Amino acid sequence: MQWPQVRGTLLLSPHSDRLEEKALMLAASFLREGKLVAFPTETVYGLGANALNPLAVSQIFKAKGRPADNPLIVHIAGIEQAFALAREVPPEARLLARYFWPGPLTMVLPKHQNIPNITTAGLSSVALRVPSHPLALRLIREAGIPIAAPSANISGSPSPTTAAHVLADLAGHIDAVLDGGHCSVGLESTVVSLLSSPPALLRPGWVTRGMLEDILKKKVMDFSALHMDEQSPGPVLSPGMKYRHYAPQAPLFLVEGEGEPQRRQLMALAEGFVMQGRRLGLLLFEESKSYFSAPVKVVLGSRSDPAAVARRLFYALRKLDFLGVDVIVAEGLEEKDLGKAIMNRLRKAALKIMRPDGKGGFLWVKG
Ligand code: TXA
Ligand code: MG
Repeated sequence: MQWPQVRGTLLLSPHSDRLEEKALMLAASFLREGKLVAFPTETVYGLGANALNPLAVSQIFKAKGRPADNPLIVHIAGIEQAFALAREVPPEARLLARYFWPGPLTMVLPKHQNIPNITTAGLSSVALRVPSHPLALRLIREAGIPIAAPSANISGSPSPTTAAHVLADLAGHIDAVLDGGHCSVGLESTVVSLLSSPPALLRPGWVTRGMLEDILKKKVMDFSALHMDEQSPGPVLSPGMKYRHYAPQAPLFLVEGEGEPQRRQLMALAEGFVMQGRRLGLLLFEESKSYFSAPVKVVLGSRSDPAAVARRLFYALRKLDFLGVDVIVAEGLEEKDLGKAIMNRLRKAALKIMRPDGKGGFLWVKG
């Protein structure tokens, strides 16, 4: 089988069961040889390499331009194999695994000595995840090794939710991408640290803090809003938290809040940019699209369907860049359940944020 290539990167896009088997075999053999293969998960595409091979892992950092102090998540196909990579497994971890693995939850545990330091950026802990995407599971099983995989984007840009996004960022820098279509969750996994008691939420995702607390029957601390910018003081719990992320090329201005006051603020901001002759793109919810007349409007879905919004968010950010806008004005939504993960990504993508001041006005809170 001759697979198509984009600048030397193989596009493994299987359109039949037989081809899928071939694509998986080739991708798995690449991983065993120390090469880089991007693959679909239910959250976003990951950029995989053998987690136990320091040289292979170093290539991930190089291809992404990722800071060396930002540790990787190790992906495994089975719960017991995952826990074998931890020095110690608290009962809470077993409980969470029973409910959420395979699935979009990453657990931080004390690391086993057989994981090289480069994989965990020198930390004595390791982030572990058993993804639920069938292609990811089959690939990891076939490779027979734990796979280190950050999101398969250039460091700082929106995470990829299609194989085309991966190629747009990394073609020519990685060996292959396994195409599994669109990712169903669309936002990266929830990261929870079990190094502390009570456990700590480090990154919000599809598995919400409330869901974790329901299963554990205890409080989970929320550290996900710490280090929203690189200047914040204090120790960094999850190194990835301190970097600007998910950002489109065009500067994004986020207006938080809701209802009529938010809409008026959005309009004022949008009109200001149009007056300056900027090519404006709006990122809106279904409910407000009819109020705005900018030529470029990207609609994320209804406020009442956060799962659809999550699925489309990174796609929408990339689309705005593709449409060639030079400034983006986006509206925020309520920070409830999955809304929390959506707002976490939007805030990190934003250059500037406006928030209601509680007195009927708005103030700048970032930038
Ligand atoms: O959904 C996902 O998690 C995707 C897919 C591919 O599985 N992966 C992903 O990886 O989002 P990445 O590298 O983009 O984000 C990993 C996050 C970073 O914020 C990193 O700092 C944090 O997890 N992390 C990794 N190991 C850690 C550790 N030992 N302690 C604390 N945080 C850790
Ligand atoms: Mg990432």
